[in-house]
This record gives sequence, C-alpha cells and structure tokens, in this order.
Amino acid sequence: MALVKNSLFARYYTRFGARNEERGNRELRRELLTGLSGRVLEVGSGTGLNFAHYPASVCEVVAVEPEPYLRERTAEAAAVAPVPVRVTDGIAARLPAADGEFDAVVVSGVLCSVPDVAAALTEFGRILSPGGELRFYEHVRSPDPLLAGVQAVADLFWPRLMGGCHVTRDTRAAVDRAFTVESCRELRFPSCGGWSPVAPRILGTARKAG
Ligand SMILES: C[S@@+](CC[C@H](N)C(=O)[O-])C[C@H]1O[C@@H](n2cnc3c(N)ncnc32)[C@H](O)[C@@H]1O
Repeated sequence: MALVKNSLFARYYTRFGARNEERGNRELRRELLTGLSGRVLEVGSGTGLNFAHYPASVCEVVAVEPEPYLRERTAEAAAVAPVPVRVTDGIAARLPAADGEFDAVVVSGVLCSVPDVAAALTEFGRILSPGGELRFYEHVRSPDPLLAGVQAVADLFWPRLMGGCHVTRDTRAAVDRAFTVESCRELRFPSCGGWSPVAPRILGTARKAG
C-alpha cells in the first residue's frame, strides 16, 4: 500500500542524510525527543535517525514510513533501537491509528514534503490523546525577506530533486493554527558554515487541547 515512492531520493537520503548528524543534528534530535513518555507515533521516519534518541520513558514508537526503500531502512534501525519500535506503512494525512491513541506525535523534516500540511496536522490531532504533544523539527521559510526570495527561486526545482521537499513553508504558522505552541526555537542549521535553502529551522513542542 505504498503511496509515496521516491526511489532516487530515498537512496540519496540513506547515503548522505546521516552526514548532518556529525554537524549537530544528533544534539537537535535529542532536544526534539527529550522528556517524551508513553506511546509515540513518528511520521516519515526515513532511515530511523531519531530512534537512538528516544528516552527510556517511551514504551513504544510506531514509525510510519510510506516510501518502501526507506521503510526497509527504518525497519533495520528499529531492530537495534533502545526502545520498542513498530514499523508500518502510511501517510501523514491518513495514519494507521485510532482516535486519541498516542501520547505524542514526532515529525522531523517531514512537513516540508507532505502535500497538504493542514490535513496532516488535523490528522495528528485526531490520533493524539487530549493534552498530547506534537514535537517538530522542520526547515522553514526564512524570516529574512531576501533569503525567503532565494528560497522561492530554489522551490522552483528543489521539490523535484528532493522527494517533494518544499523550502518556502511557514510551518510555525500552520502548527499555530492547529495546536497550542508551547515552545518554538528558531535556528540555523548548520549553526556555522554556509547558508542553504534548508538552513532556517524551527524546533519545538505544541499541545492538543486537553
Ligand atoms: C527528509 S526525510 C526525513 C526523514 C526523518 N524524519 C529524519 O528526520 O531523518 C522526509 C521523510 O518524509 C517522508 N514523507 C514524504 N511524504 C510523506 C507523507 N505524505 N506522509 C508521511 N511521510 C512522508 C519521506 O518518505 C521521508 O522519510
């Protein structure tokens, strides 16, 4: 039932995605996941780079990955994860989960690629328990108008090269419309070195009404 197939991007991401871990991404993933507990659903888990950083207070992660090649990589990472991880097919707008089933939803580098951000966020809200958390780490449109202009030009070709990833999304505003944002840190990645269209990022927590 694979609904997302990006074979070339999947292979590229598997080969090169982990390079950023050495440049500070590992610490950002840790920050993203710290303090989580209970049952967590991770959407678009990719090669499973988050798994090593889930705290022991998480009793189960359900990892939803629609791309077949990446789902195999997710399964390999799940097998050696420090917490139990169950891997499944699915897409952000239609998750294989019952209403209110999860304590938290985690996304990193995913809301840039889903076809409809608002529909995905509505679906996250559906499967979260009252008071449940959304943890997000996403690249976003730059607050600097000049850099946002560069991103707009990049967005003309970037999605075709990068598995449907858009670099102009105001994800913070979208999360604000669907949840109560409790924290949202703006950062640039990598923190030193050159600028790229995916450099402006946000990392934070939002909560579903209790
Ligand atoms: C840049 S990768 C990020 C992977 C991983 N979350 C990480 O932090 O390394 C984008 C991921 O989003 C997934 N994805 C793309 N469209 C999706 C959709 N509609 N629903 C769920 N996941 C999707 C891709 O298959 C891929 O795993």
